[in-house]
Amino acid sequence: GEVTRSYDPAYMNTVACISKISYIDGDKGVLEYRGYPIEQLAEHSTFLETAFLVIFGELPNAQQLKKFSKKVMTNSTYHDGLDKFIKAFRHDSHPMGMMSTLMAAMSTFYPEANPAYVGANIYKGKQERNKHIYRILGAAPTIAAACYRHRIGLPLNHANQDLGYVENFLYMMDKHITDDDYKPHPKITRALEILFILHAEHELNCSTAAIRHMASSQSDVYTSLAGAVTALYGPRHGGANEAVLRMLEQIGSKDKIPQFIEDVKNKKKMLMGFGHRVYRSYDPRATIVKRTAEEVFSLVGKEPLVEIAMELEKIALTDEYFIKRKLYPNVDFYSGVIYKALGIPTEFFTVLFAVPRIAGWLAHWTEFLDDPENKIVRPRQIYKGYRTRDYVPIEKRE
Ligand code: SDX
Repeated sequence: GEVTRSYDPAYMNTVACISKISYIDGDKGVLEYRGYPIEQLAEHSTFLETAFLVIFGELPNAQQLKKFSKKVMTNSTYHDGLDKFIKAFRHDSHPMGMMSTLMAAMSTFYPEANPAYVGANIYKGKQERNKHIYRILGAAPTIAAACYRHRIGLPLNHANQDLGYVENFLYMMDKHITDDDYKPHPKITRALEILFILHAEHELNCSTAAIRHMASSQSDVYTSLAGAVTALYGPRHGGANEAVLRMLEQIGSKDKIPQFIEDVKNKKKMLMGFGHRVYRSYDPRATIVKRTAEEVFSLVGKEPLVEIAMELEKIALTDEYFIKRKLYPNVDFYSGVIYKALGIPTEFFTVLFAVPRIAGWLAHWTEFLDDPENKIVRPRQIYKGYRTRDYVPIEKRE
């Protein structure tokens, strides 16, 4: 029969999967993980609890959460061989380049996880799959912290498995440790916990679509994650949080904003941290990030660049160019000013997106594996090049 195919290069209108993980209403600015509104999770949940929800589909009971936390935290080391990779990076290597390399490198240390050796059946059993899930969630903050420490010339700080997931991450980076109990400040920990919850999952964004794409060829989960990290790296996606901060620094003062907005309207510049493929209203995560910024500032002092960010937002939201295109702040607009206030280097911001997003990537990975329609992802093209022509010997070419 006749096949009709539609040309949709950016997948503006292509449905690539049936999913039960997260729901977005882009017009109303609604986001739910497994049916739970993001606002409630940000208020009451922890990152690990949310990760369990996102990956396994239900909120854990107390016993399940305890077991899950234990499994993840006991995996908060990484294979010794990875250390050599980390040490080989230049001190100024971009941490996202390091992260993606190290994720791919992990696959070489776990050949038993590789369908290339053992066949795709390796991922059929839940237990086998969960082993990788615990290992990846556990190792990711340790690897990220090691990248951070390598860049500033410090040796690896081993994980403290008695601490919470996010708390331990701050601990490994030596950030906001209090004098009395040598633990990260609980309010700073909570702020980062909220940011981790907000970044955990977001349906078929570019990097999540990428991991499904890669899982479809039956690549191993570690290499597939390396690909997802790579997709997130770009400034149109997760890299926007870094790009926003560089933009704010470049603008430098409020009086330069009108000129900047003019440049955006003339398509000479982009207002980073604005716009979204799905949201045609305020990103609900941005609302919470903005509120969290205020809390962090009350503890560590205000990051002055936030004044420029707020003024940019105010002007953009009342400007015809942005109104007509329904461009609003997204999750990346205010997160960077928080990270900056916390003393985290700008290059590291997207890592703070990647680490929690691993939950969403893994959720989609297992959902894809269980999908009865699971096949290799292979789009079609419209060919507009030459048709059959004869080879021309080199001496006869112009
Ligand atoms: C994330 O998909 C997800 O779910 C991603 C994410 C997640 O949690 O995984 O939410 C995380 O990636 C957030 C987005 C971070 N990126 C940025 O902040 C970078 C700046 N934003 C843009 O590059 C853009 O808005 C995108 C990439 C986010 C969305 O791109 P679309 O859907 O392809 O929209 P578009 O580029 O076709 O824009 C439509 C119009 C265009 O104008 P016209 O050609 O109609 O005249 O809006 C303009 C664009 O030029 N536009 C912007 C703009 N974003 C869109 N103009 C100025 N500044 C901007 N930021």
